[in-house]
Amino acid sequence: MSHAASSSSIAFAAGSLPGLEADLIAIPWFEGEPASAIEGLDAATAGEVGRAIAAGEFQGKPYEMFWAPIGAGTWRAKRVAILGAGRRDAADGDITRKLASAAGHVARQKRVGRMAFLVRSGGDYAELVQAAAEGLTLADFHGGSYKTKEAAPAAPPTWTIAADGAIDAVRLEHAVERGRILGECTNLARGLANEPGNTLTPREFAARATRLAADAGVATEVLDEKQIAELGMGLLLGVARGSSEPPRLMVFRHDPPGAPKTPVLGLVGKGITFDTGGISIKPADGMERMKDDMAGGAAVACAMRAIALLGTPIRVVGVVPATENMPGGRAIKPGDILKSAEGKTVEVTNTDAEGRLILGDGLWYARKLGATHLVDVATLTGAVIVALGKLTSGLFGTDTFVEQVRRVANRAGDRSWPMPTFDDYMEQLKSEIADFTNTGGRAAGSITAALFLKEFTGGLPWVHMDIAGTAWADDAKPYMPKGATGVAVRTLASLALDFAGSLET
Ligand code: BES
Ligand code: MN
Ligand code: ZN
Repeated sequence: MSHAASSSSIAFAAGSLPGLEADLIAIPWFEGEPASAIEGLDAATAGEVGRAIAAGEFQGKPYEMFWAPIGAGTWRAKRVAILGAGRRDAADGDITRKLASAAGHVARQKRVGRMAFLVRSGGDYAELVQAAAEGLTLADFHGGSYKTKEAAPAAPPTWTIAADGAIDAVRLEHAVERGRILGECTNLARGLANEPGNTLTPREFAARATRLAADAGVATEVLDEKQIAELGMGLLLGVARGSSEPPRLMVFRHDPPGAPKTPVLGLVGKGITFDTGGISIKPADGMERMKDDMAGGAAVACAMRAIALLGTPIRVVGVVPATENMPGGRAIKPGDILKSAEGKTVEVTNTDAEGRLILGDGLWYARKLGATHLVDVATLTGAVIVALGKLTSGLFGTDTFVEQVRRVANRAGDRSWPMPTFDDYMEQLKSEIADFTNTGGRAAGSITAALFLKEFTGGLPWVHMDIAGTAWADDAKPYMPKGATGVAVRTLASLALDFAGSLET
């Protein structure tokens, strides 16, 4: 399956709208704004914009769109689309990102050649410009397809971001480039997570994901089943036993010259390339969805790429254990005991709770690589979907670090919310025969999963992000097609930047 390996550049235009060369200018429009909000627009559309607003044909509700031709001899652009942006006091980076993406999707559908998107002034303008660049780039994603009779997707428009805020052109050009990189890396993660289990085996996943990162200058390594055994990773090996595909462990290192020794951010991603549940097999209905059970691993790999492309001046290590979870003659069985690389023993009461097993060994390895702060990302539990639905990822871990990740994630457009991790929940993982079990029953299922992971964090500051609900969109939205969302890529990369930023002070 093909997807764009790198996105096209985005031009930045400061200054007057009338002089802007484009086939379409998309202009976000807030509820209740008069036609005069954008100087000269009503005249350039021969009164069409004013008429549509006066008649209530266009009200500025989110994602509403009104197109009008631009009269010859007025503005240079050919057409304008005003785009409902909702209430002005609710405007932020998130809505800007979504509006830019929605405009970009429509422009692609309508085969627009050159599209300009106006970033309306407000708040932190560079942040809005960055979000717009992310949104346009996100619209530049072709889900990929194995259909044999489908025409190739139309080339995306060439994008321009037009500014009407206070202009510091150099700063804003940097913001555009940052947004483009973050959008591109999100798209790469979406491409990986959309890929079926038979094409994206653990070996293929490791090859593609390390390639993406290595191309950006990240040092990468792929450990095979022998090396994994030498490290004593009994949890990862245990999950892999049921499969005829061997497991892999991806390692990523971003170690820029001159970076301080600490902090070392350690990113760990769940890389189950297909989750049947193993011997505790899942029902057939909907099981095809479990091809995206490596979305956390893809997010880590693609965030490593972004971190390198952004020139982030701190050290970051990434670890992605990858395997299938299959039933088979050699598969682990409920009641089996596994020994982790750290030495802790686990009674596997349910083979479908495999993500926490492989992450246990992954977290240990990130510590071994020198991580001082740990963040893991995983499609870990159905229970987090019950708790938070499909819009919000669950955050678990040490309080102040959770707070930092929450702030960064919400700005990056990955909605996240903290969940409790009281030690008492650990009682649900009590085992008669091993240090603990791998499942704690239905109650608080996403929390007991997090407490299992905590056993492997060595007391370091740690955040677990459960993306089981947010990694996959069941329905298309104006700003996003169905399928893999690329959640957490922008959060992880922005978190590394946030670490670097707080060092400067
Ligand atoms: N990959 C699943 C979690 C999942 C469920 C992701 C639905 C996306 C959508 C995970 O490996 C799993 O099977 N978890 C079990 C754990 C249970 C056996 C304790 C679950 O949530 O049912
Ligand atoms: Mn499972
Ligand atoms: Zn799983």
